[in-house]
Amino acid sequence: MIQNNKKWMVAMIAGTMAIALGLMADGFAKVKKGDTRPLNTATWMKNVMKPNCGALKKEIAAGPKTEDDWASLIEHAEILNETSYILMEDKRCPDGIWANAASKTLRNGSDAVIAAAKAKNAAAVEKAFKKMTESCTSCHKAHKKKK
Ligand code: HEC
Repeated sequence: MIQNNKKWMVAMIAGTMAIALGLMADGFAKVKKGDTRPLNTATWMKNVMKPNCGALKKEIAAGPKTEDDWASLIEHAEILNETSYILMEDKRCPDGIWANAASKTLRNGSDAVIAAAKAKNAAAVEKAFKKMTESCTSCHKAHKKKK
């Protein structure tokens, strides 16, 4: 009887470990790509996140002057804001760090950039941009694997 209990416990532990490993592998896969759609996270980062964030940074450094300059800031921030929703879709999000970076820091930060640019307040734009880019660092620290 005792022997049987031991065997049963070993089987339970092995089973639990197998499930945990399966979940870990699953979590990893969802970070790099969503569940059903073809988009790889890296594709979006390279083609949408980086160019729009880079352009925003340059335009802030140059100092927006004309109506077109302010409008351009807003356009880039709109795209980054929409990204905060896309990153949460298709079961891509693995945990709270990701969710916080995307749906709080990135979303609120880009919202604040848009509001400040609409008010033509360059100092507030810069401050909001800094806050927004904390999302890149926090998510990458946890989820961007070194190559
Ligand atoms: C919620 C998570 C998250 C946020 C927020 C995020 N990233 Fe990423 N990013 C990732 C992950 C995950 C990868 C690695 C993808 C891979 O290698 O499969 C990545 C990779 C990248 C890459 C490398 C892409 C390549 O060519 O392989 C760049 C550039 C990048 N991110 C830019 C940014 C910028 C700029 C921001 C902020 C404005 C940002 N990311 C915010 C998750 C995030």
